[in-house]
Amino acid sequence: MTSDSNAQRVSINSALRAIPKLVEASKLGMRDQAVEIGVEIAGLLDAGMPTVSERIRKIARTGAGLTPIAAKPPEDLVDYVSVENGFDGVVLPENVIAEARMIATEHARAAELAAFSVAPRHKIVLHGPPGNGKTMLARAFAAELGLPIFEVKYGGLIASYLGETGKNLQRLFDYAGSQPCVLFIDEFDTVAMARTAKGDVGETRRVTNQMLLLLDRLPARCFLVAATNLFDQIDSAVVRRFDFAIEIPSPTEDLVRTCAARELSPERTPGYDRRDLVERIVGCAPPHLSAVVAMCEWIRRDLCLAAGTNIDGMLAAAAVRG
Ligand SMILES: Nc1ncnc2c1ncn2[C@@H]1O[C@H](COP(=O)(O)OP(=O)(O)O)[C@@H](O)[C@H]1O
Ligand SMILES: [Mg+2]
Repeated sequence: MTSDSNAQRVSINSALRAIPKLVEASKLGMRDQAVEIGVEIAGLLDAGMPTVSERIRKIARTGAGLTPIAAKPPEDLVDYVSVENGFDGVVLPENVIAEARMIATEHARAAELAAFSVAPRHKIVLHGPPGNGKTMLARAFAAELGLPIFEVKYGGLIASYLGETGKNLQRLFDYAGSQPCVLFIDEFDTVAMARTAKGDVGETRRVTNQMLLLLDRLPARCFLVAATNLFDQIDSAVVRRFDFAIEIPSPTEDLVRTCAARELSPERTPGYDRRDLVERIVGCAPPHLSAVVAMCEWIRRDLCLAAGTNIDGMLAAAAVRG
């Protein structure tokens, strides 16, 4: 096969991979995003399938055929995120992965569970220190369950007018409960603060009370993932409303090792095999996986641009910083 036709095949594969994103975006009425993905697909097909690419471009330009099926999302309150990676993309302790897989299985086998009068768990709260994969796991749930994911935008949700935050929360849950989807509420402590906490007690109390009601009424078709770094500040009655809490702790040395080994696998460093650096990273990385990933990205960048000549210096400096 010539390198030209090889390149075309790669492009066509990428275009095929983008199709689910396009379908999802247009189904949800995210017109701008759908157009953007359409244009991207057209670009990938230019060389190999020019007539198809021209047609897709035309549809994207006019917006024809992009009529939403579901109600339009409240774009002031949520971001729609396109996800690809399931659980395999996240480095997690074994018990966490096992729990996550169990919950996904419950959804895949919901009909069987119904015969035993059990519903799949659909309200989970993730907690633990920042930078260890809570957001990634929420998105992985969406990919595993094959559902669109909506992530709450705090700028739009939290209003300065008294009572307005409550109305926004109602709007958010009304939309999320209207269809099968994942709703991801990060920084969940903000809207579920313990009612004994100090501060603007009146409004905090109202918002938390409302959260209790919303959680009680959330239909099972909506899979809610809440995440927080401040689990102990969340109202205990709210915590009880969840089906399950998963702690994602600071990584063990072994988990750092797994993460670094994955990030420095030879497929990601064409022409190099620098797995020898893994143990040095384990010795000097700060105790969260986002730092490990960032360090490995730095190394891959240096391998690509400077043949890795700055790696020793970088790792030595990181070791000094501790
Ligand atoms: N468990 C993990 N596995 C792989 N990468 C991770 C993991 N945790 C963090 N990262 C890296 O750090 C970034 C931030 O992680 P994130 O999921 O936002 O953490 P959190 O939500 O717990 O603060 C991710 O985009 C990823 O690059
Ligand atoms: Mg996060």
